Amino acid sequence: MGGCISIQILGDSDHIRNLEKNLVALEETIRVLKSRRYDVLRRVQEEEGKGQQRLNEVQVWLTSVQTIENHFDDLNITRTRELQRLCLLGVCSKNVKSSFHYGRRVSLMLKEVESLISNGVFEVVAAEPPAMRCVVEERPLQPVIFGRETMLEKAWNRLMDEETQTVGLYGMGGVGKTTLLTQINNKLCDGVDGVQIVIWVVVSSDLRVEEIQDDIAEKLGLHGEEWDWKDKRHKAYDIQARMKNKKFVLLLDNIWRKVDLEDIGVPFPTRENGCKVVFTTRSREVCGYMGVDDPMEVQCLTDSAAWDLFKKKVGPLTLKSHPRILEQARKVAEKCGGLPLALSVIGETMSCKKTIKEWDLAVEDFAGMDDQILPILKYSYDNLKGKHIKSCFQYCSLFPEDYLIEKEKLIDYWICERFIGENEDRERTVNQGYGIIATLVSSCLLLEEGSSISKVKMHDVVREMALGISSDFGKKREKCIVRAGVGLSKVPKVEKWSAVERIVPN
Ligand SMILES: Nc1ncnc2c1ncn2[C@@H]1O[C@H](COP(=O)(O)OP(=O)(O)OP(=O)(O)O)[C@@H](O)[C@H]1O
Ligand SMILES: [Mg+2]
Repeated sequence: MGGCISIQILGDSDHIRNLEKNLVALEETIRVLKSRRYDVLRRVQEEEGKGQQRLNEVQVWLTSVQTIENHFDDLNITRTRELQRLCLLGVCSKNVKSSFHYGRRVSLMLKEVESLISNGVFEVVAAEPPAMRCVVEERPLQPVIFGRETMLEKAWNRLMDEETQTVGLYGMGGVGKTTLLTQINNKLCDGVDGVQIVIWVVVSSDLRVEEIQDDIAEKLGLHGEEWDWKDKRHKAYDIQARMKNKKFVLLLDNIWRKVDLEDIGVPFPTRENGCKVVFTTRSREVCGYMGVDDPMEVQCLTDSAAWDLFKKKVGPLTLKSHPRILEQARKVAEKCGGLPLALSVIGETMSCKKTIKEWDLAVEDFAGMDDQILPILKYSYDNLKGKHIKSCFQYCSLFPEDYLIEKEKLIDYWICERFIGENEDRERTVNQGYGIIATLVSSCLLLEEGSSISKVKMHDVVREMALGISSDFGKKREKCIVRAGVGLSKVPKVEKWSAVERIVPN
């Protein structure tokens, strides 16, 4: 008998003797199971498409089927080798131990598959999801918000207006858009008639649809392995199924380009479904892309609100620690031009400065701007797309602080600098110039002040940012020295004149 040992010795011969027969049976039952799974899954998806939620017992069954199918594939890998080991018309093996184990796996799996087939008959596969409570997560907010009562009321009324489906809030970096949106979110916590879901999503600058989908899904209770495996399109189906027939408010913070709701799976807000979308952006143009013709601008704080915010941040103890500090503090606050970001950051930085010397220095240097505020604002600059537009923007920082720049003159300067208009006729070049101004205004890097539409100005803090970029935020101080509007009567003090490439007389 050579290497063949009688299997009777081991006492349990069935696993080997029936191996071939069991394998054939297993293949057949697996085929039946697969088609059963296919049918069940089709019914489940059909129901989910109608907004139903799959039953847990169905999900457990589907997962078990998937697992056993994977095990069957593993088993198949050694199938041929195990069959070749059989001898004596299949009742013996050249490697009894291996054949025994293999045969036992096959017969156990066969039983399991048969049981899954008989358990896979479902009269109902899905049911109405549990009634969704209106869950709004309260978001953290500064303890005191200054000077935003009117704006909040205006934005809230707009949101509650039946005729409004999408509200766009735009404004320069750090002006308080997220803060306003947070106020709206927290006001929604008090409950608004009929609203069932309030979802807050922070949109990343590179706008990844799947990230937005995952955020929304989490709030909707869609997660787990199965969700993770789905592609963008199927995720959109699931979100759509959950959100349709529900009254929702979707809050999208900080968008930089159009967010396509259909791509995400969010049903379009209409008057009929009562759903709303509110978003914030630094760009007015983006509001247009989102279908909002009359967006609301979040503007800098008034002088008195700005001073209140600054005072609060610095704290009364510091302000009282020297008789001249209050006066200097006012000057620093003024330099922030009503920008809450600057007021908050600089106010906090100065809260521990109790000597007048430190305050005198702050008036000169505008403490805290370089490392904390300018990089945030620079993001708007980095996002400027188009030839020479960045140079055109930086050019505006050569004008003195708060200077109202005539658009037509500005365009002439740009032409002289050859930023625009090379090989073009004058009319086209001027139009190009106006186009650039419009883009800069739309990105909130230039401001169109009051009634004068023929002039623009640069916010002080934005101007600091533009100058910061020119000198690589202080690393190359001599690269750009601007002393505009200070009435220079002599050449300014410069350490390294050899680094200076050009002087522009004012
Ligand atoms: N009215 C306010 N009162 C007090 N603090 C405020 C006010 N508005 C904004 N802030 C504070 O100013 C900082 C910047 O505000 P916020 O983040 O809302 O600006 P943003 O417009 O969303 O900026 P970005 O364009 O960078 O997203 C935050 O620290 C915020 O707490
Ligand atoms: Mg923000």
